[in-house]
Amino acid sequence: MTMNRSVAAICALTIAFSTMAQAPAPQPKLTAEQIVSARQAAYDMSVLTFASMQIAARDGTDVTRQTYPATALNKWAKVITTLYPTGTGTDGVSIPTHAKPEIWSDRAGFEKAAAQYVAATAKEIEFAKAGDAANFKMQIGEIKHACDNCHENYKVKYP
Ligand code: HEC
Repeated sequence: MTMNRSVAAICALTIAFSTMAQAPAPQPKLTAEQIVSARQAAYDMSVLTFASMQIAARDGTDVTRQTYPATALNKWAKVITTLYPTGTGTDGVSIPTHAKPEIWSDRAGFEKAAAQYVAATAKEIEFAKAGDAANFKMQIGEIKHACDNCHENYKVKYP
């Protein structure tokens, strides 16, 4: 290979790499079933997270250690509604879902139920950080109420 030809080859490679770097990353495309599975998995894991908080409240252990699980629930609470795009109800997916049609027909109500959960978990983070065991225990009931309230209106009961 002559000098000129190898310079040309390097130039071609450089152009190829810079073109690759400029190519936009692909947009994420989840199927409706993947979205339903993701939200169900998050709910399942939030049961375990919440259980650890309930046990700590019952046993009177140092509640500052519950800051992490309380924060996890709060993070999840903030994004719940984003995992209910149109087309992810019983009519739209090939896997079982207990999402009621009211999630889409009464969106404001659903958003409000989620906001109640966000607020309840945000308060629990404060009680945990402060090591306030009495209020932490009381707030467990408020969080439970937020779960139950949303399920009552927006989740199909198991047979
Ligand atoms: C804003 C509404 C809302 C809140 C708040 C909420 N949930 Fe749910 N939950 C739902 C809906 C809707 C479903 C059904 C989802 C589906 O099947 O697609 C569900 C499903 C579940 C499931 C079943 C998941 C599965 O694998 O099918 C569990 C367990 C659960 N929730 C626990 C909880 C707990 C515990 C809390 C509170 C700490 C909570 N949820 C708070 C709406 C809510």
